[in-house]
Amino acid sequence: MAQYPELKNKSVVVTGAGRGIGLAIARRFVVEGAHVLLSDIAEGDSASLLTLAEESGTRAAYQMLDVTCREQVDAAIARAVELFGRLDCMVCNAGIGEIAPLIEASEDSFDRQMAVNAKGAFLCATAAARQMLEQGSGGRIIINASGAGKIAPGKAVPLGVYAMSKHAAVGLTKQLGAELAGDGILVNCICGGIVDTPMWDVIDRGVTERSGEPQGSFKQEAVQSIPVRRIQEPEDMANAVAFLASDEASYIAGQTLNCSGGLLPY
Ligand SMILES: NC(=O)c1ccc[n+]([C@@H]2O[C@H](COP(=O)([O-])OP(=O)(O)OC[C@H]3O[C@@H](n4cnc5c(N)ncnc54)[C@H](O)[C@@H]3O)[C@@H](O)[C@H]2O)c1
Repeated sequence: MAQYPELKNKSVVVTGAGRGIGLAIARRFVVEGAHVLLSDIAEGDSASLLTLAEESGTRAAYQMLDVTCREQVDAAIARAVELFGRLDCMVCNAGIGEIAPLIEASEDSFDRQMAVNAKGAFLCATAAARQMLEQGSGGRIIINASGAGKIAPGKAVPLGVYAMSKHAAVGLTKQLGAELAGDGILVNCICGGIVDTPMWDVIDRGVTERSGEPQGSFKQEAVQSIPVRRIQEPEDMANAVAFLASDEASYIAGQTLNCSGGLLPY
């Protein structure tokens, strides 16, 4: 059900929207009555959402986008403007994670993760900001960072380069947030915990392959450590994004919002 009437007819781009958290965020914006460009390197389940948008009288489209490529990022923003007339909200959600402690991470793995999680967020957020500055009426940029962008997961969850890249995403939020707040463009990020998406299955597989424990056991153990005692659903993240896009968040700029069921201490 729609919670924020002010989001009706807003123009939104979500990256990594083919599945997981990005798809849930895109769905939430459709439910709120916004027009949404679902961008991803793979179409995934985006078609189901295009049907929902059509049925509910909003507009949605899929755009092939690799966030590591500046030309593709610019083309995606241009497509949203062409389809919906302007850009009001950019959600930089695309991300990848690979298992290895820093001392074992290969240069290729470093480059891949930094390219998507740090450079990709930079390219998308700044391209969106330039479009919003041209429009001259503010906007919202929401970056999906991670708890691993605030605290070091350490040896227990060996997401070494991932943690570095997500700290960069938090840094991007703070700096860009400070640069743009005066223009009414509010940049914030969300930091999730253990969200039930294919990404966590990849993490579980990577960790259990290294430890020799049964597959699934690492994810189960991780979920038991969540203070609210349930795994996080992609919709929990979508709730936080919808709030940050809404009028209720009009005095929040350059911040990180933890949405982790109490897992993150600060
Ligand atoms: N799952 C979690 O527990 C969790 C927790 C905190 C933060 N996050 C962050 O949330 C975001 C979404 O994660 P998820 O769990 O839904 O992951 P996911 O792997 O289920 O989905 C990620 C999506 O990003 C797309 N993608 C990958 N590389 C891309 C690229 N170069 N360009 C465009 N799209 C690309 C994939 O095709 C996929 O559809 C990521 O940034 C992730 O780091 C996830």
